[in-house]
Amino acid sequence: MSNDAERIDELRIQIERFRTAYYQEDQTLVSDAEYDLLEKELKELEGKHPELIENSPTQRVGGAAAEVFSPVTHLDPMMSLDNAFSVEEFLAWCQRAGSGPYLCEPKIDGLALSLTYENGVLVKAATRGDGSVGEDVTQNALTIQNIPHRLKGEKHPVVVEIRGEVFFESKDFEELNAGIVAAGGKPFANPRNCASGSLRQKDASVTASRPLKMLVHGFGAWQSDLESQSQVYELLTAWGLPTTKRYLVAQDEKEAFDFIQNLQATRHDIEHEIDGAVIKVDSLSAQAELGKTSRAPRWAIAYKYPPEQVNTKLLDIKVSIGRTGRATPYAVLVPVQVAGSEVEFATLHNQDQVKAKGVLIGDTVVLRKAGDVIPEILGPVVALRDGTEKEFQMPSRCPECQSELAPAAEGDVDLRCPNSRSCPAQLRERIAYIGSRSALDIEALGYVSASALTQPLEPKDPPLTSEAGLFSLKLENLLPIKSLVLDPDTGLPKHDSEGKPKIVDFFQKKDGSPSEVALKLLANLEEAKTKPLWRILVSLSIRHVGPVAARALADHFGSTTAIFEASAEELAEVEGVGPTLASSISEWISEPWHKEILKSWEEAGVQLHTPGHLGPGSVTKDGLFKGLSIVVTGSMESMTREEIEALVIEQGGKAASSVSKKTAFVVAGPGAGSKLSKAEELGIEVITEQAFLQRLAQSTQ
Ligand code: IVH
Repeated sequence: MSNDAERIDELRIQIERFRTAYYQEDQTLVSDAEYDLLEKELKELEGKHPELIENSPTQRVGGAAAEVFSPVTHLDPMMSLDNAFSVEEFLAWCQRAGSGPYLCEPKIDGLALSLTYENGVLVKAATRGDGSVGEDVTQNALTIQNIPHRLKGEKHPVVVEIRGEVFFESKDFEELNAGIVAAGGKPFANPRNCASGSLRQKDASVTASRPLKMLVHGFGAWQSDLESQSQVYELLTAWGLPTTKRYLVAQDEKEAFDFIQNLQATRHDIEHEIDGAVIKVDSLSAQAELGKTSRAPRWAIAYKYPPEQVNTKLLDIKVSIGRTGRATPYAVLVPVQVAGSEVEFATLHNQDQVKAKGVLIGDTVVLRKAGDVIPEILGPVVALRDGTEKEFQMPSRCPECQSELAPAAEGDVDLRCPNSRSCPAQLRERIAYIGSRSALDIEALGYVSASALTQPLEPKDPPLTSEAGLFSLKLENLLPIKSLVLDPDTGLPKHDSEGKPKIVDFFQKKDGSPSEVALKLLANLEEAKTKPLWRILVSLSIRHVGPVAARALADHFGSTTAIFEASAEELAEVEGVGPTLASSISEWISEPWHKEILKSWEEAGVQLHTPGHLGPGSVTKDGLFKGLSIVVTGSMESMTREEIEALVIEQGGKAASSVSKKTAFVVAGPGAGSKLSKAEELGIEVITEQAFLQRLAQSTQ
C-alpha cells in the first residue's frame, strides 16, 4: 500500500510537470505515448485505491493535445490589429484615422472567439484560425457561463457575428493553480495558454470545469443601422452580451492618450490580464471609409505596453550541458510572476554574458519578460547588495562527467564538454533527440526513456553507453533498469524527503513482467529501422544537419555510404548544403566511434539507404512546389517550422532561409520579424500556415 501511495505521488508529480510544460511552456518533455502510459498506470493504481483519488490530475483537465475540430468559415474574416509602441506612433495613427471621437478600451490578453447568433440564438462558436477559417468550438463555448445561449430583447438580426476574447480572471486562475499546488502539482504559469488549452478541448465537460469568461468587443457580419462603436456596445449589453465596463469615448487624441496612460498605471487592478489598450474610431461610417488592409482595420490600433520588469533573487548560477556538449550557464531564481507567467530559470547564454550583465550569486536582479518571449536577466540591483554576494565561476569541468570544458575552436566564447561519446548529459540529449518528431519520431523514446537508458547507476552500466546499441536493445537489457527520477527543468536527479535520490523501476512492473513502455519501445524501435533515410541522418546529431539539409542530402545521395564517401566539395554542391555543413559532415565521419554507430545500426537492421534510389544526383522531385523557393518564418501552430519546410521539400520546393526577389512566397506565423518585413517590402506573397496546408490538401485531393 505505501509503495502504491508513493508511486501515485510520483506519477502525479511527473504528470503535472509534463502537462505544465505542454500547456504553458509549449514544450513536449515526453512523447504522447510515454505520457499516456504514465496516466494509464496512475489510473490503474487509483482504481486499486479509490480513497487516494481526490485532487488527482486524472480528475481534471486532460493533458491530451488539442484534437481536430471541424473547420468554420467566418462570414466576415477575423482580423488582427496594427500596433503602436510609442506616443509618436500613436499620434501618427490619429493623423491617419481622423480627429475623433475615439472609443478606448483594454486589450484583453486572451484568445479570440466569434459567436454566430441566428435570430437571437447562438448557433456557432469558432476560434480565429487563420482569420478566414477557424475551428468549431460551439460545444465548449456553450459551457462558458457568461455567453448567452439566447439574446435578450427582440428584433434580433437574422444573422450576426459577435467577436470577443475568452480569458481567465486573475483570481480564478490563481484559484485553479492553488488547487493544483494542493494536489502536489506544479501550477500553470500563463493564463492565456491555459485559457486556450481549456477552450480547445474535445471533451466539453473539461471546458465546463474551468471558470472561463468572455468579453465582446466588436462584430463581423451584421447589417446594422447604428452609428457608432459605442452604440454597438450599448446594444450588445442590452442583448445580455458581456461587454467591458472599462471603455471610454475620448473626444480627441489627448484624451485618448490619457486613457492609455491611466490604464497602464492601473493594469494590475483589472480583473484579467491586459497587454495594451485598443483605440477605435467611434463613428461606424468613418470606420467604413477608412477600411482595412489585408491584415487589420485602419480604424483601430493596439497600443502595446512595454515588457514588464520585476525584481527577484538570483539564488544560484548552474551549468547545463546540451546535445552538442555546449555548456550553458543558467540562473536559478526565486520563482516570480512576470508578464503573466511564473519564472524560475533564465538562460545566461555563456560566461561572457554573465560578466557583461555584472550579476553576482545572491544579487537581487531585474528580470524582464514580454508575453511569449524568453525571460531575460537585465542586471543586478547594486544598491541592494550586502556584501555576501559571490562571483560566478564558470566550472572548469563538466557537471555530469567531470571532463575538462574547452572551447570547440580557438576564440570561441562557448565552452563545450569534449566527451561527446559518453558524457551522460550529451548522450541523454542525443538519445532523446533520436526519438523526437524532427528525427525518427519514436513515440516511446522521449526524455524519460532516454534518461532511463543512459543513467549510470552503480554498480551497473546503463544499457546504452553510446547510441550505437540503441537498435540492438533486447528486453533483457531493459528489465533490470532502475531509473533516477530527473527534474526535466534541470536534468538533475530528484531527491526524496530524506535527501536520497529517487529511484524507480522503469521497464518492469512490480510482478517482474515487462512494463508497457518497455514493450512499446522495442516495437517502436523495430518500426523505426525502415524510416526514410533523411530521418536517420537527422538522428545522428551531426551539427547543422536538421530535417531540411538531411532531406536534400538523402534525395541527392540516396545512402549514408554515398554521403560519407563524398568529398566536402561534392557535398557543398548539393542545393541547400553549404560549406559549413559539408565540413561538419566530413568531421563527423572522421570519428571512429561515429562509424561504429552506423555499423551497429546496419547490423541491427536499420535501413541506411533509400530503396530504389539510383545513386548520387539521380533524383529530381516533382510536386506542387517544384522549383519554387519558399521561406517559412515565425512560429507555427500545428507542426514545427522544420516540418512545414519538410513538406515544401517533399513537394519539390526549396526551403530557403532568406527572402529575396526569387522567393515564391513566405509562410509566416506569430513572431515573424525581419523576413516578413522584407517580403512586404518586396511585395512577395505572404500566407498563413493554415493557408499553406490548405493549398497542399487541395492539390493532393
Ligand atoms: S478589436 C478587426 N478590441 O487582439 C479586429 N481586439 O492583437 C478588431 N483583442 O484580433 C479587434 N482585446 O482578438 C479588439 N478590446 C479589444 C481587444 C481585441 C483583445 C484581440 C483581438 C485581436 C487581437 C489583435
